[in-house]
Amino acid sequence: MSKRFYLTTAIDYVNGEPHLGHAYEKVITDIIARTHLSLGQDVFYLTGLDEHGQKVQSAAKADGKDPQLYCDEFAAIWETFAGRLNLTNSDFVRTSSQRHKAFVQAVLQNLHDNGHFYQAEYRGFYSARQESFLTEKDRREDGTFDPIYGDVNELVEHNYYFKLGQHQQWLIDHIEANPSFIQPETRRNEVLGFLKNNTLEDLCITRPKERLEWGIQLPFDERYVTYVWFDALSNYASIPAALGDAAVAGPIGLDSKPAAPELWPADIHVIGKDILKFHAVYWPIMLKAMKLPLPGQVLVHGWWQKDGQKMSKTTGNVVDPVGVIEEWGVDAFRYYVVRELDIGPDGNWTDESFEARYSAELANGLGNLVNRSLSMLNRYRGGMLETTSDELAEDAEKWITKARRNYESHQIQAALISIWRLVDRANQYVEQTAPFKLAKQEDQSDRLNEVLYNLIECCRILAVLIWPVIPDTAEKIFEQVNFDGSPADFELAKWGGLAEGHTCNKATPLFPRKDLEKK
Ligand code: ME8
Ligand code: MG
Repeated sequence: MSKRFYLTTAIDYVNGEPHLGHAYEKVITDIIARTHLSLGQDVFYLTGLDEHGQKVQSAAKADGKDPQLYCDEFAAIWETFAGRLNLTNSDFVRTSSQRHKAFVQAVLQNLHDNGHFYQAEYRGFYSARQESFLTEKDRREDGTFDPIYGDVNELVEHNYYFKLGQHQQWLIDHIEANPSFIQPETRRNEVLGFLKNNTLEDLCITRPKERLEWGIQLPFDERYVTYVWFDALSNYASIPAALGDAAVAGPIGLDSKPAAPELWPADIHVIGKDILKFHAVYWPIMLKAMKLPLPGQVLVHGWWQKDGQKMSKTTGNVVDPVGVIEEWGVDAFRYYVVRELDIGPDGNWTDESFEARYSAELANGLGNLVNRSLSMLNRYRGGMLETTSDELAEDAEKWITKARRNYESHQIQAALISIWRLVDRANQYVEQTAPFKLAKQEDQSDRLNEVLYNLIECCRILAVLIWPVIPDTAEKIFEQVNFDGSPADFELAKWGGLAEGHTCNKATPLFPRKDLEKK
């Protein structure tokens, strides 16, 4: 056995329905997971839920429910959601599960025994909405706190602290020595700027139970539960440990299992820009204290707005991913979010731009290419390829190589742009060669056979290229072209896979045209 490519999403707060931002993050991560699968690697993709903390406790209380029951009900919705997005996730972590709690308690005991914690009085402010402590420094010039913090309460309480100060310099050195550790570059600079211009304050890692009960109890002091971020970040290691991965279990003093998947360290943590400090500062320091190797990369995506404004439930300004999927199909949703927005900047969802891309790139671009190629082959040749040809081979190889390079560097938007160059080339080839005219000329029969081969072979190759992003469509193309096996293997993106004499199936539309349907 060897180490699997291990990647994660943030784990979502359970106190609400999944929205576009959550869907986007899971889709990006899934496409990277599928890219590595397609390139022949073993992959482990972890996503799940962050269930403890003040927010969930209050929401459950407002509902008159026990927090565990409240979480169980929501968890069912979220797991169904992962299915609707067609994710290849290997596991689903819930922080209220026993396997996660056991790991967090073992880590707490281990760090406590090794002198990483101390007790002190805390005076300051707490934002339940962001689940974080604030200080005087966080006030704005007019003395108030930013509305993103919601209600902020002043607290005076005794707590445990995690010593962070001693970790500042090695972390700066690590980030400087490993340019790919935080990506994109702007986010890396943001973290370096923060670390170089501030002194890290020790992190309060507990909550007295009289204020918060819904959390993981400290193994060495039953009056406290663990701060929700300490608990949540640990999920990335708790699941490998629970599965018995020796790379995590060993250093924490837990049992490993003989046939366990080899996962740690994670290759990529995919997160949104608002939780960068937790992943690029606190998490590496926690790992160092646990004597665990650091993850390969923290990959930071931007935030979606709708129609140029922050999405908000109160104003009804939201994109409901499930609604979009029901109307347009999961592949149209997956395609749009990564074609429209590169990993890094903020994005803006408008229904107009969604419909424009659906119509131009999916229905009229890829869909039309596959549909008319197969229709002509069926109409003129009874579905059979009567010859082979490599007229478009060079064009195809060029875009295959580009797409592969883009995928390997996780540039999904760039990969799609390269792939659609081939879609456009093949559609242009239909116009240039005019097979519908060739079909009427008896002496052009051989030429028509060549043209049809080039078109169908392009369709087959395109199926392999798009599989990481729109897997259902890729599988439908393979089925219609009647090509054995699965498009989930990048090796199949090589010219000449279809043989002379091969017979294809009939065409059925991949992306029905909505404008026609309505008429
Ligand atoms: O922060 N656009 O959970 P969360 C893009 N439980 N991404 C968005 C977004 C938007 N409009 N809104 C949220 C938490 N996200 C913690 C994480 S990890 C150990 C604990 C992203 O449900 C956000 O950036 O508030 C984050 O990566 C993810 O959704 C979950 O956010
Ligand atoms: Mg949030």
